[in-house]
Amino acid sequence: MKIAVLKEGAAGETRVAATPETVKKFIALGASVAVEPGAGAGASIPDADYAAAGADVAAGATQGADIVLAVQGPEPARLAGANPGAWIVAGLDPTGQRARVDAYAAAGFEALAMEWMPRITRAQSMDILSSQSNLAGYKAVIEAANTYGRAFPMMMTAAGTVSAAKVFVMGVGVAGLQAIATARRLGAQVSATDVRSATREQIQSLGAKPIFVESVKGIEGEGAGGYATEMSEEYQKAQAELVSSHIARQDIVITTALIPGRAAPRLVSDAQIAAMKPGSVIYDLAVAQGGNVEGSVADRVTEKHGVKIIGRANTPAALAADASALFSRNLYNFLSAFWDKEQGKPVLDDEIGSAIRLTRGGKVVSERLLSA
Ligand code: NAI
Repeated sequence: MKIAVLKEGAAGETRVAATPETVKKFIALGASVAVEPGAGAGASIPDADYAAAGADVAAGATQGADIVLAVQGPEPARLAGANPGAWIVAGLDPTGQRARVDAYAAAGFEALAMEWMPRITRAQSMDILSSQSNLAGYKAVIEAANTYGRAFPMMMTAAGTVSAAKVFVMGVGVAGLQAIATARRLGAQVSATDVRSATREQIQSLGAKPIFVESVKGIEGEGAGGYATEMSEEYQKAQAELVSSHIARQDIVITTALIPGRAAPRLVSDAQIAAMKPGSVIYDLAVAQGGNVEGSVADRVTEKHGVKIIGRANTPAALAADASALFSRNLYNFLSAFWDKEQGKPVLDDEIGSAIRLTRGGKVVSERLLSA
């Protein structure tokens, strides 16, 4: 059983899908591990550390591999020499990269999309969306604070008082909760909103103020898998009105709202940006999914009406070392949970398999992908 760890090919991708820690653990399970040279460079992990952990660090790591680990779905050409039926374990962006998934199928690989891990208690430790969103929520606040020309905490000084920054978090999933906690730790006055009513208490428990549409019903409890669904037009209108009056008084806005399988909902319009004070900062964590903010551009800071809008397509990559450590553990937790000691390899045949398996036996087998 050979596991190959790829050096990521996508621009700006600094993360790596295995660390020396998880390499050691895979070897303890009985696997051999081959790492492409420079795979850990973006996350400050030298080749020598992988070698010291027992990995073979050399070009051609995929030759004879049974499992290939990557952060993002690799170009099919990068998989040359991997065994027939080899597992490709990564965040595969199945709907966005459908042609690539078809190529994995045609090559006879079994592609496993880690971002489609079901949201069940047993799979929490394998959930790359959670581990990466949490770090992204933190980093968004730190970058917004860095871009903001004022301080976050209230400060009473001999020269006068500096008032606390007002931070508004839109979308209170994993990233939003961490954004609230981080902004609070920095001393900001924090408010937050979501369409799922279950988040109201979570917002309050972090010491922030919930801002909710009261006149139209949101999503009571949670939709499938705890995710949001698209809201009615009536709700969207009420939300826009509520946000307009609130946002004009905010200094920092962090948007994180996503709807699985759809473009990100538009939550902040150009007119709302115009109502904000010059010098305010918006961080659009949903920019790669189309953006929550009108005019946000991936991997750019744009300025509109004196407001800076930060759009970073891959925020976890800005915390490469921690993001890689958590991502790698997610992959290890997944593979080790399904490891069959007798066969010396993982065997995946339950609800997790049906949720994440995209291709098998030369075909696309994922119901979710086929009906997308
Ligand atoms: P997400 O990344 O899909 O979306 C972020 C947030 O945006 C969500 O809270 C969503 O309700 C909100 N949103 C969507 N449309 C919106 C709109 N129009 N206006 C305002 N907010 C909007 O969500 P994430 O972070 O993946 O978490 C979703 C849920 O799944 C949470 O309840 C989380 O606690 C739960 N979860 C459960 C796990 C498990 O049991 N294994 C693992 C991770 C998360």
